[in-house]
Amino acid sequence: MTARHGETPTMTDFNTIDDLSVAGKTVLVRADLNVPAKDGVVTDATRIERLAPTLKELAAKGARVVIMSHFGRPKNGPDAKNSLRQVLAPLSAAVGQEVAFADDCIGDVAKTAISAAPFGGMILLENTRFHAGEEKNDPELARQMAELGDLYVNDAFSAAHRAHCSTEGVAKHLPSAAGRLMQAELEALGKALEKPERPVLAVVGGAKISTKLDLLGNMVRKVDRLALGGGMANTFLFAQGVDVGASLCEKDMADQARAIMATAKDAGCDILLPKDFVVAKEFKAGAENRTVAADGIGADEMALDVGPATIAYLADQIASVKTVVWNGPLGAFEIAPFDAGTNAVAQKVAAQTKTGALLSVAGGGDTVAALAHAGAEADFTYVSAAGGAFLEWLEGKDLPGVAALKK
Ligand code: 3PG
Ligand code: MG
Repeated sequence: MTARHGETPTMTDFNTIDDLSVAGKTVLVRADLNVPAKDGVVTDATRIERLAPTLKELAAKGARVVIMSHFGRPKNGPDAKNSLRQVLAPLSAAVGQEVAFADDCIGDVAKTAISAAPFGGMILLENTRFHAGEEKNDPELARQMAELGDLYVNDAFSAAHRAHCSTEGVAKHLPSAAGRLMQAELEALGKALEKPERPVLAVVGGAKISTKLDLLGNMVRKVDRLALGGGMANTFLFAQGVDVGASLCEKDMADQARAIMATAKDAGCDILLPKDFVVAKEFKAGAENRTVAADGIGADEMALDVGPATIAYLADQIASVKTVVWNGPLGAFEIAPFDAGTNAVAQKVAAQTKTGALLSVAGGGDTVAALAHAGAEADFTYVSAAGGAFLEWLEGKDLPGVAALKK
C-alpha cells in the first residue's frame, strides 16, 4: 500500500474491466462527477464525457451500474447546492440512457433504487460527502457502500489522492478494478514518468514555488530537463542574484530554490530558466508592455510572460526531446497579450506530438484551461482530467485510490 513513485506499479499490476465478469452483477463505480456547475447547471461536462465509456461498457456487458461520487466540499450533511441531482441530465445525455437517482449513497434508499433497476441500467447515488464518514474513510460507511454491489470499479483518478470510503475503503471489501478512464490516466502517466522515452522535458509554470516544492524536488530527479516559467521562474532568477523588479517573486523561498538547483545538478537535470520576458507596469489585459532580457526588468515592471527568445529556445528544446510533461502556464495567460508565450510553446508541443516525434502529457488545474486557450489540448498525447491528483502524482506521492486497486 505504500509503494513510492519509483516503484509505482505498471498497469499489469491492476485489474481492468477486462478482468471482471460483470454480466448479471451489480457494479459499484466510483466516478468523479465533481464538475463545475452554476445555479444547478453543469458548465463543463468534460469529466462526465470522459467517464461515459466505462459506464456504457459495463451496461452493455450486462452489469447493473451503480455510480457514486462526491460533489463539492459539503461539511454539514445534505444540501441542494451540492446535490448530484444537477449532474443527472448531462450524465444521462453522455451515456445515452436514462440514469435513475437515489437520494442517499447507502442504506434502504440506495438499495431500493438499485433493485428497481434492470441489468444494463444505471443508478446515480447522492453525494458521498453528505456522510461525514466519507472523508474520514470510516470503515462502517465503507462497508455500507460495499454491500450495495458485487464488484467495485474505480474510474476516479482525479479523486485518487483522497483516502476516502468511496475511493479507498470500498476496495477492501469487493473485487476491484480500474475503469477505462483510470486505466488511461495510469497508462499515460506511466509512459511519461515511469518508463519514458528520453530525453524527458518537464515544463512547469504557475505562480509560486511554495506550493510546488515537492513537485520540483521530485521532477528534477526524474526528468532530463526542467523548463520553468510563470511566477516561479522569477524566484529562481532572484535566487541567482537577478533583480526581478516588481515581478511576482517569493523572496523567502530563495534558499529552497537554490536547494532544488543543487539537487538538479546532482541528478543531471538541466534547469532551463527564461532568457527574456514581456514586462508591464500594470497587471491587466492590453497593458503597455516591452520585451527585455531576463536581467533587464525595471524596478517598477513585472514579468508577465516569457519573451520571444525564450519561446525560440524552448521550441528548440521541444524539438530535441521525446517526452514532455507539462504543468502550469508560462505567464499570465488569462490576460492578452501575456498569453503569447504559453500559447506558442503549447502549440509547439502539440505540433511535435502530431508528427509522432513526441509523447506529451499535461494536467493539473490551470493547465488544461491554458492548453485549451492555446488550441493545443486536442493534439497533446494525453491531458489529464485531474487537478490535485495529477500534482500529487508529479510529486511522487502514493495515491491511495490507485494503491487500493493493486492486485
Ligand atoms: C477535484 O476536483 O480535484 C477532485 O474531484 C477532488 O476534489 P477535492 O479536492 O474536493 O477532494
Ligand atoms: Mg481539487
